[in-house]
Amino acid sequence: MHVEFYEKIWMWAAAVLLVLFVGILVLSAASQAIHPPSHVETIDPQTLSTNPDFQPGVALQPDGSATVTVIGEMYDFRPDPIEVPANRPITFRLTSADVMHGFEVVGTNANAMMIPGYVSQFTIVFKKPGEYIIGCNEYCGIMHHNMVGKLIVKQ
Ligand code: CUA
Repeated sequence: MHVEFYEKIWMWAAAVLLVLFVGILVLSAASQAIHPPSHVETIDPQTLSTNPDFQPGVALQPDGSATVTVIGEMYDFRPDPIEVPANRPITFRLTSADVMHGFEVVGTNANAMMIPGYVSQFTIVFKKPGEYIIGCNEYCGIMHHNMVGKLIVKQ
């Protein structure tokens, strides 16, 4: 098969770009430990309501940061509303008591899945005080569209 010289150049250029992009992706993921915020820690959804290590609520730390433990259950987030301080690292720990739910703080980078049996964890800083909508973005049943919570970021 005869391939034109210029066509060869373009084929090689595309191949080099592909290898470059995948390389950058793998390198940055490995060097910055980027991974999905789930499937790290397991939890028994059957005993969730009596688990002393996973009670829904906001725990303020002495340094001003906070840990927020949230359970998703058809068709609510617990606790609701969630109140956290602005400009402090907020660590969310999420799981589900029944089926898969989503946890998205609309208009921010906070977005993770609530998976029964697993704890999803991520840390975020909310710079803008105000009220945010928490939406479930995984179809979880007939009332999925009603699964909405509120996050209050206080100055
Ligand atoms: Cu919970 Cu959709």
